[in-house]
Amino acid sequence: MTDKILVTGGAGYIGSHIVIELSAAGYAPLIVDDFSNSSPSVVPRLSEITGHDVPCVTGDIRDRRLLAGTLSEHAVAAVVHCAGLKAVGESESRPLAYYDSNIGGTIALAEAMADAGVKTIVFSSSATVYGQAGSNPIAEDAPLMPESVYGRTKLMIEQLLRDLARSDPAWRVALLRYFNPAGAHASGRIGEAPSATPNNLMPILAQVGAGKLPEIAVFGSDWPTPDGTGVRDYIHVVDLAEAHVAALAHLQRAAGVTTLNLGTSRGYSVLEAIAAFERACSKPITRRMAPRRAGDVAICVADASAARVTLGWVARRGLDAMCADAWRWQLHRDA
Ligand code: NAD
Ligand code: UD1
Repeated sequence: MTDKILVTGGAGYIGSHIVIELSAAGYAPLIVDDFSNSSPSVVPRLSEITGHDVPCVTGDIRDRRLLAGTLSEHAVAAVVHCAGLKAVGESESRPLAYYDSNIGGTIALAEAMADAGVKTIVFSSSATVYGQAGSNPIAEDAPLMPESVYGRTKLMIEQLLRDLARSDPAWRVALLRYFNPAGAHASGRIGEAPSATPNNLMPILAQVGAGKLPEIAVFGSDWPTPDGTGVRDYIHVVDLAEAHVAALAHLQRAAGVTTLNLGTSRGYSVLEAIAAFERACSKPITRRMAPRRAGDVAICVADASAARVTLGWVARRGLDAMCADAWRWQLHRDA
């Protein structure tokens, strides 16, 4: 029988791409989402892209009864847990909302899972748990020093899931630390759709390309990097989604907790990313050199070798593909 996989936050940017890759791999994904940061219109598009009905339960993961009903009604085999709040700046001004949604949501989810006997979970963690990493590339055993409320919720959830797995060896947990997800599905039908003005580089570049924003402010040109601008490990969202499929397969073989960085092990500077986006959209991107942004680091690049060894997975799509796919999505959105 086809395994049913519940994707919390499955209508969101990363979750929607995971739904597609799960379906392509022969799983039957279903979604719980409250659409607080996504649109219900994503769901029929997922059904069209996958060629299968993608059931979606509208609701909040803090609603334990809703989760219990969903897990039992659909006989869910495992959960990919993407639902949560993710804006670093907002987490500083609304800390309780972040603790409540991210940690409270995970507790409610884990309780409902335990009650239903569903004890396999893949969690969307973040490279932000490393904070100001001492050296690059960053391996999984680097010190964990998140600098924001958002980052601390991610680390606390990792700890919560570790404690759960220690208490009951039936749990199988993958903690996946994403570096900088970018790009969109090649169909151009789903992608990142920030409701507010974006703060991240790639969606800003897409909006400058589309004429919705006048320019990109480059935050710092005096970083200790080859061209003076910040270096990040951008990873195509479809590669990221594929890693979740590999992680689920891994958890069938491995009990306990598996913690992995998901990146390409290759960094690009802001200026390199702008140049790649200009190639993708065939337009000049107006940029303005600006002071450093508070909280930024010079370089943040994954050592992704553990994911290669453990999952047999590597990111295959490069920066040009990320920009081309992000641009195609931007054009479709505007159409
Ligand atoms: P997103 O906001 O696009 O997706 C999250 C989805 O969860 C949305 O559809 C939202 O409506 C839903 N949601 C939020 N709170 C909910 C709740 N309480 N109950 C039910 N649904 C809820 O974000 P994303 O970029 O797809 O991120 C997915 C996950 O990956 C998040 O946990 C995020 O912290 C993590 N992550 C994202 C990035 C990134 O750059 N996008 C990087 C590292 C980690
Ligand atoms: C941010 C989050 C991090 C999250 C990650 C992936 C912060 C402090 N960190 O990381 O928690 O996991 O996104 O979503 O928000 N840049 C500009 N101009 C801009 C925007 C960005 O020059 O207008 C630069 C930044 O200085 C950085 C690079 O582009 O060097 C990438 O920035 P961004 O996309 O915001 O991601 P991070 O800051 O790496």
